[in-house]
Amino acid sequence: MHPQPPVMPTQTIETASETLKRGGLVVFPTETVYGLGADAANPDALARLYSVKGRPTNHPVIVHIGDPAQMAQWASAVPEAAHKLAEAFWPGPMTLILTKAAHVSPAVTGGQETVGLRMPDHPVALALLQAFGGGIAAPSANRFGQLSPTRASDLDPVLVQEIDMVLDGGPCQVGLESTIIDLSGPHPAILRPGMLLAEDIEAVLGQPLGENKHETRAPGDLPSHYAPRTPVRLVSGDTFSSTLKHWMTTGKRLCVLALSRAPESPEDTNIHWISAPADPDAYAYALYANLKKLDSFGGDLILVELPPQGSGWTAIHDRLKRAAAGFEIPENAPRE
Ligand code: TXA
Ligand code: MG
Repeated sequence: MHPQPPVMPTQTIETASETLKRGGLVVFPTETVYGLGADAANPDALARLYSVKGRPTNHPVIVHIGDPAQMAQWASAVPEAAHKLAEAFWPGPMTLILTKAAHVSPAVTGGQETVGLRMPDHPVALALLQAFGGGIAAPSANRFGQLSPTRASDLDPVLVQEIDMVLDGGPCQVGLESTIIDLSGPHPAILRPGMLLAEDIEAVLGQPLGENKHETRAPGDLPSHYAPRTPVRLVSGDTFSSTLKHWMTTGKRLCVLALSRAPESPEDTNIHWISAPADPDAYAYALYANLKKLDSFGGDLILVELPPQGSGWTAIHDRLKRAAAGFEIPENAPRE
């Protein structure tokens, strides 16, 4: 359905691996979003990673590994649940939070006692991890608070200038960040929903996921995150037409992310309009690129028609809510 990742020359992978070993920063594709990678065992490289990303140093980063067996190198203990989930879902869009091993740098963990681990499902990421051998710390390859890139062409040009290398692996097949599961507490809990669904995780664990009781420092927890610059407003499907008509009377320059819906009236043709697919996987695949495209028009408002409820849509609702959160009030605030 989606374009398949290109084959990356071995020499390119080798150069990227050497770059990481020298303490450099490499943007690489995963199946979820592009990552900004650094050697997870090199504090200087991590410091540079945080500075390029513009991220507070108390926010942990995920360590990417090329083999589930490497969990034991980063975690002080690997619970049975982690083995089961890794077996079922790695490589794949799942991050496991485990109690960290003693050597793991506070620069990786944000000073917490836990470490996030993920084996990504992308041939370029896996080849890089294989060549590099160690863990690659990688947040999404956007500046703090902005939309995650799902195509190399969506990377911030300033960020690209500040790093050493970009591996272009084509569009990310999943399109939303991994599901984060906390296995460091008494009950497994989801810290960030993703396209790997709670019911599938529960089926493998053989137990329901608990409420997350931890104090987390997941940047995804910040109200305004994964956000375009243009204010975003979420509108339910049943009031969509009337809400759109209302906004059209205000003279604002509107952008619309509709759900499988074409413009209804000829006046709608003044609107930058994207009709997103009504299938959650296809919607997720295109979501960040769609928001980025609408943002690029520099309009006054992006109206998003909310998708239906249902477990397949959970992560999508989560990201849409975050994209809109910073703009709830006041309506006419200037862009920062
Ligand atoms: O799909 C993904 O997870 C992508 C790709 C590149 O792998 N990565 C990603 O990284 O989304 P980032 O840094 O943008 O988001 C990672 C999330 C953050 O919310 C971070 O706080 C959380 O993971 N995280 C990492 N380690 C953690 C830990 N030890 N405890 C709690 N949350 C953690
Ligand atoms: Mg991110």
